[in-house]
Parts: sequence; C-alpha cells; structure tokens
Amino acid sequence: MKVAVVTGASRGIGRTIAEMLAEEGYSLALGARNVEELEKLTEGLETEVFYHYLDVSRPESVDDFASRVLWRFGGVDLVVANAGVGYFGRLEEIRDEDFERMLQVNTLGLWRTVKAFLPSLRERRGAVVAVTSDVSARVFPGGGAYVATKWAARALVRTFQMENPEVRFLELRPGAVDTYFAGSGPGKPKEHGFLKPEDVAEALRCLLKLPPDVRVEELMLRSIYQRPEY
Ligand SMILES: NC(=O)c1ccc[n+]([C@@H]2O[C@H](COP(=O)([O-])OP(=O)(O)OC[C@H]3O[C@@H](n4cnc5c(N)ncnc54)[C@H](OP(=O)(O)O)[C@@H]3O)[C@@H](O)[C@H]2O)c1
Repeated sequence: MKVAVVTGASRGIGRTIAEMLAEEGYSLALGARNVEELEKLTEGLETEVFYHYLDVSRPESVDDFASRVLWRFGGVDLVVANAGVGYFGRLEEIRDEDFERMLQVNTLGLWRTVKAFLPSLRERRGAVVAVTSDVSARVFPGGGAYVATKWAARALVRTFQMENPEVRFLELRPGAVDTYFAGSGPGKPKEHGFLKPEDVAEALRCLLKLPPDVRVEELMLRSIYQRPEY
C-alpha cells in the first residue's frame, strides 16, 4: 500500500486532500498543530492513518514528525506539502512578525518538509505535491509579502526537482479557495470566485492516476468566476 504524508491536514485543502487520498487507498501520515482536528478526521477515514503534532515552522518538530512517520511506515511514496498561512497588507504596512511567520511556514516549512522525506522519496521514486498558489508567479497590491513567500516556494520546488530527477515534483497552484485561510471561514459562494477544496482534491486525484513516468510539473486552477490574471 502506498503511503502519503499531508501537512496542514487539520482543515481546508490539506484535510480534503487527505480524505481523497484515503479513498484512493493510500495509508496516511497527517501533520498539523491542531491534533484534536487530526484525530476527528482520522475517525472518519477507512485507511491506516498515523497523525501527529507538526509545526513546520520549527525544524525539530519537522524532524520529529518525519522520523515517527518513517519508523511507522518504513518509507513514503507521496508528500503533500500543504501547510500555509496568509497575512495581507501593503508592503509598508505588513508587520514584521507576520512576514516572518509566512516565511517560516510557507517557504522554510515547505523546504524542511520535503528535505526530511527526500531520502525515502528518492528510494521509492516517489512524488511531492507542493501547494503554493496561483500567486507564486504573479503579484498584486496588498499581497506582496505572502506572494514573495510563494514565489520563493516555487523556486525551491523547481530547484528540488532539478537536484532530484528521480522524484516527481508537482507545484499545485490553486486560485482562491473557500477555506479558513487568512482568518476567514468556509461558506464563500463560488460566484465570488472561490473554488471548493474538493475541486482542488479532485484535480489532484486525476493527476495521480497518470502513469508513473509522466511528470506533471505544475497545475494552476481557478474558479471561472476568478478574474484571469498572470
Ligand atoms: N485558500 C486559498 O484561497 C488558497 C489559495 C491558494 C493557495 N492556498 C494555499 O493552500 C494551503 C492550505 O491553505 P488552506 O486554504 O487550506 O487554509 P486553512 O484552511 O487555513 O488551512 C491551513 C492548514 O495549514 C496548517 N498550518 C498552518 N500553520 C502551520 C504550521 N506552522 N505547521 C503545520 N501546519 C500548519 C493548518 O493547521 P494547524 O493550524 O492545525 O497547524 C491548516 O491545516 C496553504 O499553503 C495556502 O497558502 C490557499
């Protein structure tokens, strides 16, 4: 049975991807800080699940999580590096601690997560799904700091790919998604330009069915109600 790791699995996109992967028969290793939510999620999943506290902004937490996962399963086939946070404001207004937090989670957290599982992924010729954003290659006023952390994440994913050709790296770039992101909550109408997390999970489900010698490097998906901007 294939083993998948999902970070930021306690809610939103990560949680929905975890549910989809369980349906696809993956064994799961789920990480997030809200362990109570991970426990609730696990109760409804019909597959082998390991969950543990994970704070990707702390190197020792990532190392601890990864060693527990590798001990439990012996190796991993898929890592969904999804954990992320968003704070918004004009560049002269964004607070130092918010910018730093985003760098720690969105950029360094992704790097730490992938790095921790790389030896196993190389051995199993596995795959990484890095959840960045449609803004990983564009900018918008009021989003500069968040966007910078996602551009940096994109650069990391591409460099990881070049350094590790035996692992397939997919940069998953959703536009606006109806989740708890940036302090909001789910329930936003599609007509306002939001995808549902299920839309993102379904797109990933399709890609995972492709033959293993196909490397999809990037997928950007947005609601038809979101303005196309590049
Ligand atoms: N929603 C959107 O419009 C949108 C669009 C494009 C891309 N994205 C990206 O999609 C990813 C998921 O976001 P979402 O929309 O699902 O938001 P969400 O509902 O707020 O979920 C974020 C997840 O990240 C986890 N997380 C946050 N900080 C963490 C940390 N330090 N260590 C481990 N896990 C952490 C949270 O879990 P805990 O709080 O339990 O730790 C939660 O499970 C993010 O990378 C985000 O940037 C979102």
